[in-house]
Amino acid sequence: MARLAYIAALVAAISPAAALQLADVVATYGLTESYNFTFPTQALSGSEADNWILDKWSINSQHGISFGKEDIAFVADPSAPLTRRDADAPDLEGRADVLAAKDNTPVLRIEYPKGSYSAGTGGTQFYAQPLNATSQSQNIFPNTTSNGQFERMLLSYDVYFDDFFVFNKGGKLPGLRGGPDPIGCSGGHQAVQFKCFSSRLMWRDGALGEVYAYIPTSQKNFCSTLDVVCNNDFGTSLGRGKYSFQTGRWQTVWLYVALNRADIANGVVAFYYNGTKAFEFKNLEIRNSDTVESIGGVYFSTFFGGYDSTWASPVQQFSYFRNMQLYAGLGAANGTGNRISAATVAQPSILLSAVLASMAIALAGGAML
Ligand SMILES: *[C@@H]1O[C@H](CO)[C@@H](O)[C@H](O)[C@H]1NC(C)=O
Ligand SMILES: *[C@@H]1O[C@H](CO)[C@@H](O)[C@H](O)[C@H]1NC(C)=O
Ligand SMILES: *[C@@H]1O[C@H](CO)[C@@H](O)[C@H](O)[C@H]1NC(C)=O
Ligand SMILES: *[C@@H]1O[C@H](CO)[C@@H](O)[C@H](O)[C@H]1NC(C)=O
Ligand SMILES: *[C@@H]1O[C@H](CO)[C@@H](O)[C@H](O)[C@H]1NC(C)=O
Repeated sequence: MARLAYIAALVAAISPAAALQLADVVATYGLTESYNFTFPTQALSGSEADNWILDKWSINSQHGISFGKEDIAFVADPSAPLTRRDADAPDLEGRADVLAAKDNTPVLRIEYPKGSYSAGTGGTQFYAQPLNATSQSQNIFPNTTSNGQFERMLLSYDVYFDDFFVFNKGGKLPGLRGGPDPIGCSGGHQAVQFKCFSSRLMWRDGALGEVYAYIPTSQKNFCSTLDVVCNNDFGTSLGRGKYSFQTGRWQTVWLYVALNRADIANGVVAFYYNGTKAFEFKNLEIRNSDTVESIGGVYFSTFFGGYDSTWASPVQQFSYFRNMQLYAGLGAANGTGNRISAATVAQPSILLSAVLASMAIALAGGAML
């Protein structure tokens, strides 16, 4: 008996935690709608690849593909044996392994040219909204208020970096965004006028992962909360280093966001890496006004940077994406949270609102209970 117990304890100690199932996580969060992004059955490049995305993925028309049209391609899975990126290269033509790879559903490949960082110099950015109209289902959890919009979403995708990928100082990866402003909440444009939020993933130096969010930071003591870093380049890092990206292997990421009730800071951001929960924040102020009434969809945003050339990709390199799925549900987060005092009204100009926002931060810092 003692020996059996010892073996059981040993097995428990050495086996990794059983991977969670996506369907279970989705059910736990009360997500009732789902959408799978369709991928082409053949490799595509150039405008054919762009048009696939524009035609099939419900791209926000104001946003379009905001940059990097030339950096998008659908190619053979880089993990397939002996696959080469260019399966049509003359020296590979007719080889059985290459042909087999060509038969697999292609994956999305994004290029980061040598020297590229931010400012549209490499990578790509678009806003996909396949689930922005609700079925008005009332099948929501008890004590959860619903405005009839999707206030909670989960994004799942697989991401792959080539062997020897050089992460440098950091870069963006796809996440979620919402609010009536489809352009703001990135590139140093704060959530002015409180009309958007964004929550992308980022890799940092040493392939450390995080959620990089454009959300209000006026909540008292928020920036000194454990695992929160309020960066001087605008976005807020959540859970930095709670997981790390790997090269030469596919890895699955699940990002869950539930908007807070507009009057209390009970918003949720949870992140799962390859079937294991890496972190969860439950007391976030993601919006401070019901102007942001829903999560709109996938903010497919990936590039090196960072705002200066020290963030640049030192060589031409690629990331790959596949199996992108979006889940959505009704109802804001239903936990408890501090009252949000810096409530907002629509403001006439960006400049004025920026001034008012900084005043609100100053007031909140001094006067918030
Ligand atoms: C989406 O893809 C997943 C994984 O392949 C599958 O289990 C699920 O049934 C699909 N969902 C829809 C709505 O097609
Ligand atoms: C919903 O998504 C479509 C793109 O599919 C976009 O054109 C439209 O503006 C979105 N509606 C809202 C309310 O965001
Ligand atoms: C709050 O929502 C969660 C799912 O997000 C659900 O499991 C829980 O039962 C709800 N709690 C209450 C008090 O309604
Ligand atoms: C749900 O809300 C009602 C009142 O609004 C309250 O009495 C009840 O305790 C709440 N239930 C839970 C599980 O929080
Ligand atoms: C993630 O999980 C998949 C499936 O279990 C596995 O093939 C892959 O190697 C894992 N990736 C990493 C980076 O551990």
